Amino acid sequence: MKFTAEKNRDYTTRLRQHIDNKTTDLADAVVEFDPKIYSDPKLAELEFANIFQKMPVLACHGSQIANPGDFIVVQLARTSAVITRGPDGQVSAFMNVCRHRGAKLVFEPSGNTPLFRCRYHAWAYSSDDGALKAMPQRQSFGMEPCPQRDLIRLPVEEFHGLVWVLENPQGQLDIRSFLGPSFCQFFEDYGVAGYHYARSTELHVELNWKAGMDGYMDVYHLNILHANSIGPYLHGGIMAFDPIGQHARWCVPRKKLDKVQAEELPTLDAFRYVIGGHLVFPNLEITIEPNHLEFVSFTPHPTDTTKSIYRVLFLTPDKVETPEQEATIERSWQILMSAVRDEDLPIGEAVQAGTATPQMGTLLLGRNEIANQFFYRQYERAVGIPVLRPAKL
Ligand code: FES
Ligand SMILES: [Fe+2]
Repeated sequence: MKFTAEKNRDYTTRLRQHIDNKTTDLADAVVEFDPKIYSDPKLAELEFANIFQKMPVLACHGSQIANPGDFIVVQLARTSAVITRGPDGQVSAFMNVCRHRGAKLVFEPSGNTPLFRCRYHAWAYSSDDGALKAMPQRQSFGMEPCPQRDLIRLPVEEFHGLVWVLENPQGQLDIRSFLGPSFCQFFEDYGVAGYHYARSTELHVELNWKAGMDGYMDVYHLNILHANSIGPYLHGGIMAFDPIGQHARWCVPRKKLDKVQAEELPTLDAFRYVIGGHLVFPNLEITIEPNHLEFVSFTPHPTDTTKSIYRVLFLTPDKVETPEQEATIERSWQILMSAVRDEDLPIGEAVQAGTATPQMGTLLLGRNEIANQFFYRQYERAVGIPVLRPAKL
């Protein structure tokens, strides 16, 4: 059991009451918002300045760059970042841009090298500290390789095995204060540092990053859109929702919670009977599943507000080594992939297409869409403009 007895008791009893009473946690009011939030380039500018330049995002799992010289390239909102492991085991992050004339430097998605050599004029940089090491015809530049032309560093921190990066070379990254004490405690309680990389992928999708996040925080659709995949195992439309600072946790009951005797509820290992979703604002969602942890993020496209990158990362408590372990994780992977790739992402793209319709009026979030409302309240605070307003019904 990874959570305190008190939390287990809280989620199992709250959700069972909701099932029995056909209720769910609710927001205070029905709200409406302008569909332009999924496409407005001016809003994207505000998001970049006030969200993505100020808040760290999950880049990868530390074991994806386990050895000295290992690197991985990660596309952030507007910056391609190359993340490396140095000989001392420390992780560094650099802008993936040559300091001569600005060519993208590293084209391979990952690998191992002591030196990144630009394919344009062969300026070469150490993968350890980003130092400029070599430049052909250096006398023409009147300088030796010097720190002023090293790769530009981005703030990076490895925390409980996960690598977080901030897309602002002048910014400060303090992952503990960003996550807050309760969320750090969750990482601690859950033993995230002891989890192992199992698999990951990324897909380029035709929807604004917020439309992607909307789908992940919405349990209202579970039995409807997913009626033939994951829906039959879950009580869609029922959620226990708790803010954790600017982040949040919500739990959705599995159908098997119905069958538990009332007196057993307080002693259950909650996460065998509920799915625990978490928002790490702005763009990460962490789901607790019985056999793995799932990290999903939506990263805005650098120039097109109607596109984003969907990433998913699976971690498992034990290293996947045996055929049985491989089969278990493959099954979970296929369940997620069929729900997301075949159902969630197409409907997200349908929202993106639908909301491009001129003069279509406003969109609604019901009181049951409490997590989505919470997300936009955090968004309003971060970008500094109102998005939600009381619905005129
Ligand atoms: S742009 Fe990279 S060496 Fe010239
Ligand atoms: Fe879904």
